[in-house]
Amino acid sequence: MIDYARYDRVRAVAFRNGQLELLDQRKLPFEQTFITCRTADDVAQAIFDLVVRGAPAIGIAAAWGVVLAARELGEVPSARAREQLEPVLQRLEAARPTAVNLAWALQRMRRVLAASGDDWQSRVAAEAALIEAEDLQANRHMGELGAALIEPGAGVLTHCNTGSLATAGFGTALGVIRAGVAQQRISRVFATETRPWLQGARLTVWELQQDGIDATLIADSAAAHLMSTGQVQWVIVGADRIAANGDVANKIGTCQLAIAARHFGVRVMVVAPWSTVDVATVQGADIHIEERDPAELLGYAGQRTVAEGIRAFNPVFDVTPAALIDAIVTERGVMRAPCNVALASLAADA
Ligand code: MRU
Repeated sequence: MIDYARYDRVRAVAFRNGQLELLDQRKLPFEQTFITCRTADDVAQAIFDLVVRGAPAIGIAAAWGVVLAARELGEVPSARAREQLEPVLQRLEAARPTAVNLAWALQRMRRVLAASGDDWQSRVAAEAALIEAEDLQANRHMGELGAALIEPGAGVLTHCNTGSLATAGFGTALGVIRAGVAQQRISRVFATETRPWLQGARLTVWELQQDGIDATLIADSAAAHLMSTGQVQWVIVGADRIAANGDVANKIGTCQLAIAARHFGVRVMVVAPWSTVDVATVQGADIHIEERDPAELLGYAGQRTVAEGIRAFNPVFDVTPAALIDAIVTERGVMRAPCNVALASLAADA
């Protein structure tokens, strides 16, 4: 049994006193400040600006954004609420395109609204709370399932931030790492910097430090060398969208990690709640890959580091083909390669 009080100390999203508090992830690790969202548009802006980030966390924040919009509307009939909230739902959904958890959470809110009568306000609030609570439960379950795949003494490499900062708590890939460390299966944890936004350098190693988990930071470009030394047996990552054929969209750089891992005999585990599985998307090539401001590459902390006049291309996700993935862990169970077959069967069981 994992001691969650010890191995899960950070929270990024909190709905308190009728407003949404978000830990401002742009400022971590040196400043721990919360920003307060009072309207759904505040939430949409915070998602766009990466105040809150990580596929499950943006879905949860958006669900609470709908609750804020509902409270602003007040006591109106449910049909009117549905009509007035629809543009709000659409603005929230447009904040970021790749992580399907955002659209998924909003679709759940839409469904609850459609099924509610005069009690729509309380049902919308209950649904947001449920989305958040279910995510935490799923992460804890996936932690146990994923850790069971790891042989004692293993070293692991993770990418981006998939922890409590990116979810309702405990994390997806980082949940497996937390569970694996707690069970003394994992002996070495490495984290990539995750250029250009530095989710690994600024968030992941800090988050692990809060739990007393020792992690070693590497440059993204050091991953293949690290694998060649034999110190890593698993690459463990999260996902932003998993297509029906088992292709996985995740933070830019994941695909090249998976290619290097296959070359060096390192296994790849993807950990994501079922809310990240998008059976309506046939294959990875159909996933919309978000591009962000090239300025992220052209400078650092407001200081230009690249000569004027240079262009930059900044896609922030990539697609790892299913064939490079050894296991996808969801709260419904573990899918082993070939993941597309396993995925079809888990989806059919639902
Ligand atoms: O751009 P970000 O920081 O929102 O990207 C996050 C990732 O790519 C994570 O790996 C993914 O969302 C899984 S988080 C549990």
